[in-house]
Parts: sequence; C-alpha cells; structure tokens
Amino acid sequence: MERKSMIAYVNGEFLPENQATVSIFDRGFLFADGVYEVTAVINGQLIDFEHHIARLQRSCHELELTLPYGEAELKQIHHQLIEKNNLHEGLIYLQLTRGNAMTRNFLYPDKDVKPTLVLFSQESSIVDHPKAKFGIEVVTFDDIRWQRCDIKTVALLAASMAKEYAHKHGADDALFTKDGYINEGSSSNCFIVTQDDKLQTRELNNKILPGITRRAILALAQEKGLEVIEKAFRLEDALNAKEVFITSATTLIWPVIKINGQNISEGKPGSIAVRLREIYLQKAKSQK
Ligand code: PDD
Repeated sequence: MERKSMIAYVNGEFLPENQATVSIFDRGFLFADGVYEVTAVINGQLIDFEHHIARLQRSCHELELTLPYGEAELKQIHHQLIEKNNLHEGLIYLQLTRGNAMTRNFLYPDKDVKPTLVLFSQESSIVDHPKAKFGIEVVTFDDIRWQRCDIKTVALLAASMAKEYAHKHGADDALFTKDGYINEGSSSNCFIVTQDDKLQTRELNNKILPGITRRAILALAQEKGLEVIEKAFRLEDALNAKEVFITSATTLIWPVIKINGQNISEGKPGSIAVRLREIYLQKAKSQK
C-alpha cells in the first residue's frame, strides 16, 4: 500500500514532505550534531508533551545548542502538524541540529548560524498494537554506544545495528547490555517485576536515556502502591523475573516474553505490564 504524503515543517515553513529539505552542509547530516524528540499522538492529542520539551531543553543545554522556540510555540507547531496531516494516532518527530555551517568544520560554528528545526508526523498504531497484546522476543546486544546516552542525540547507528542484529536473529528488538547488566532497550527503557512483585528499572545516569514513558510509569506504579526500585539489574535477574517489559513513546509498554530464546515466566505478557499499560492509556487519553 502506498504511504500517504504528509506535510512536514522545516525552519518556519510547512511543506509537502518531498519539498522539505536541508543542506548537505547541515551539521546534523555531517556530524550527527543534533537532538530529537518523539512524542506520541493518541486521539489527536500529544502525550506527555511538556516532559518531552523539558528533555529537549536539557539535551540542547548539554550540547550548547540554541532552541529557537519555547514550549508554547513548539506546542503550536506540533498542533498545526497534527491538524494539517489529520493525525489521529501516531507520532510527531522533532529534530534540531546546529544548522548549516556552509562547510565541514568540526568546531561549532559562530552563533549567527541558525539551527535547523525539522518536524514531521507519522501515522502508526499505538493503542491496539499486536505487540502490546502478545509481547515481544528480544536478544541482548553489547552496548557499544558512547558515554552520554542521557542526551537524546540523532547518533543512532548503534541502535540501528542492535535492531538489525535482532531482526537477523528472528527477534523483535534488542536490549543493550554491558558487563552482565541490562542498560536499556535499543530505543526504550527496560523494567522487570521481581519475584516479590517489586518494579525495578535501572537508575538514571549517563548510560541510559531518561525516558518520558519510564518517568510516567514509575509515577503511576507508585500511585498504585507498587514498590519501585531504581537500580541496575543483571541479565539473569531479568531471566528469573516474573515479568519484563520495555517502555517508550512509540510503544508505551510492550511486554517482553523471551530473552535470547528463553521464556520469561510462562512466556506470556505479565499482568502488571498489562495493567500499567491500561492505566497509562486511560491517563494519556485524558491529556490536553
Ligand atoms: N526512543 N531509551 C532510548 C535509547 C530511546 O531511544 C528511547 C526512545 C527511550 C524511551 O524514551 P521515551 O519514553 O521518552 O520515548 C529510552 C524513541 C521513541 C525513538 O528513538 O524512536
């Protein structure tokens, strides 16, 4: 089936996507010198928007990138894109790069070089995705990424390699592991439910992205009286857990039913993952 052509946003203009272009000298293209956000849209509404913008502001701060707009203006651009593309369910992708420096130079260009801001939308199924219902099989992949995984940069080759490896090994996705510990998913955070019903995910530091969905799920779990532990766990902890699941804006929660071919519990989605997803969806749908 042919994909419907969408309207994209480039530096102040809304354009058909085949006319939405950036320069070959853009530092996002040459140096992966850019940051991004992916915000879910459900029933035409942005999910956890202010947290995505707060993380974008932090990413920019860490890299001395200038974000040309504040939260209100960015929200307006997101809403315009939703409207122009008649987006009911899917995502909005935003990317900000250090702009077109007119040449290739490793040093940051002068402050008068304007950053490049691009947004586009994508329709996708989030609420009724079959993987949410049936769970996913994952394989582990050595975490070969850099030491600032807390910044959401567009340097995603390691994640692509991990996903490609998973695909070639008949799995749905990969978990990044280092020294026996699970850091996070290739594009998600990873949680386990321990045998004594505690919800565990690793603590925030430079090794993982501070996921917006992770944050929301931790808050919900606490609200519902679940004991929460933010501490690194080993692959064998996950293999012996009651449940394993991943979280991200594009999946919300997907249960993990197998790691490296080994079943988690009975090899079926766990009840806590399913319940947390339902509650998160209810909350998300009531956001404006
Ligand atoms: N990825 N960890 C990594 C490495 C990620 O790339 C992502 C999100 C997350 C989850 O973050 P959040 O809950 O804020 O989406 C964790 C997005 C969805 C992507 O690259 O498509």
